[in-house]
Amino acid sequence: MRIEIHDKTLGLAEQLRRFGFPLDMRCDGRGTCGRCRVRLLSGCWLENGVAVNAPAEALACRTWLVSETGSVEIPFASCLPSTQGLFADAWQNIAPMPVKDEVVVGIDIGTTTLAAAALQRGRIIAREACFNPQARFGDNVMSRISAAETHLEEMRQALLDALADMLRKMPPPTRVAIAGNSTMTSLFHGVNPVSLGHAPFALPQSDFAPVSGDCLGLPASVPIHTLPLISAFLGGDILGGLGELHLKPGDLFIDIGTNCEMVFCKMDGTLVGAAAAAGPAFEGAGIACGTRAVPGAICHYRGFDAFEMIPRDDGLLGTPVGLCGSAMVDALAVLRRAGLLSRFGRFEPPCPKKEIAQGVYITEQDIEQLLTAKGAVAAGIRCLEEYCGGPCRRLILAGGFAQFLDLDNAAAIGMLPKRPVFVVGNTSLAAAVRLAAEPTHATELSSLRQSVSELHLNNVPGFDVKFLEGMMLP
Ligand code: FES
Repeated sequence: MRIEIHDKTLGLAEQLRRFGFPLDMRCDGRGTCGRCRVRLLSGCWLENGVAVNAPAEALACRTWLVSETGSVEIPFASCLPSTQGLFADAWQNIAPMPVKDEVVVGIDIGTTTLAAAALQRGRIIAREACFNPQARFGDNVMSRISAAETHLEEMRQALLDALADMLRKMPPPTRVAIAGNSTMTSLFHGVNPVSLGHAPFALPQSDFAPVSGDCLGLPASVPIHTLPLISAFLGGDILGGLGELHLKPGDLFIDIGTNCEMVFCKMDGTLVGAAAAAGPAFEGAGIACGTRAVPGAICHYRGFDAFEMIPRDDGLLGTPVGLCGSAMVDALAVLRRAGLLSRFGRFEPPCPKKEIAQGVYITEQDIEQLLTAKGAVAAGIRCLEEYCGGPCRRLILAGGFAQFLDLDNAAAIGMLPKRPVFVVGNTSLAAAVRLAAEPTHATELSSLRQSVSELHLNNVPGFDVKFLEGMMLP
């Protein structure tokens, strides 16, 4: 698509965003990730202060128009495409939803993705999804917290605009409820989350009264309810999941994401939660050919040129746009099994990178980041299991990443222990829908919250050693 640009006062990436074409800006415009590359079709430009004349390629985040007009083309790989349709229905089977004539909407505000579902008579009648537009302020929770120090209102408005777009496409609800981690929930309500970013990691606000949608500029003039938060690192999303799942003794519930939240149900029925900072590597950030689970992404890898891709919206596969988290897990397992990767993540024999598919490769630096992420998850699980008295009986995995994950490969690289695994989908969204349908559910969630104690992994003796061990490949 060709887009005409006339404004010389705004950077190219910001202009494209305002035109409705947000780019994949995972380095937040620092010019280091290379994901916002566009084609300059006409005009004179400045990229990083250096004159560039079209035709040429440039990083939109570092480029400004110099001539009176110019035009650009956005490659598919640089876009943030719709993720609609990527969400499994598994969560609908967890517990029956209330059967009522009214339409209600639940929204899961994820760090990366926003997902909404409308419920009527116990069935989902509409769903919407899009990327969280706050991604341009940073890929992970900590960078968002830091950005909120100076851009709180802008970040909140970006989120509200995206939610308004989603709600406009859905049947008018009588109530809405949102669920999110502690940072996303705070940002939704305009509460400064800065205290979540440094010790003692205090929660600025844990409970939120219903607000009216029109007060927030949303198209639904109805009450909007919010799932309460447990702590700085255990948010309404994991609490909602607990409310949906009713864990049994020996269950370990994990929501794998940038901030990997986990709750162990001990044999006496008490709940212990912990959060491991896995970082955004499994969401593609900081990885040379990494991408989120978007159409065109390689989602499974079996060996060179043997891979599966997420189909594009037109149903075609096209050229791979990169590797998403599940394929990275596969790549580690496949390369290690083939003897091409050492325990420490070094290529054998030494080489700068391994090609996964044409134009898609993985480097040793990528592998280092992936091992750090999987080390954090593995160490978190080990610490929590030890603290709670022994191995869990079954693992329950929630979240989008888990839906694509090859569980054998995740165990083969030592990321997950070898236990019976159940994948349950987006339990946070399920909880938001339930709260929208039954606002009294908030009371149950509040009392459930009281039963969760928190284990701070950084204070656990031996966590560092387990983390280093977890970074190794079996
Ligand atoms: S290089 Fe443009 S956003 Fe990272």
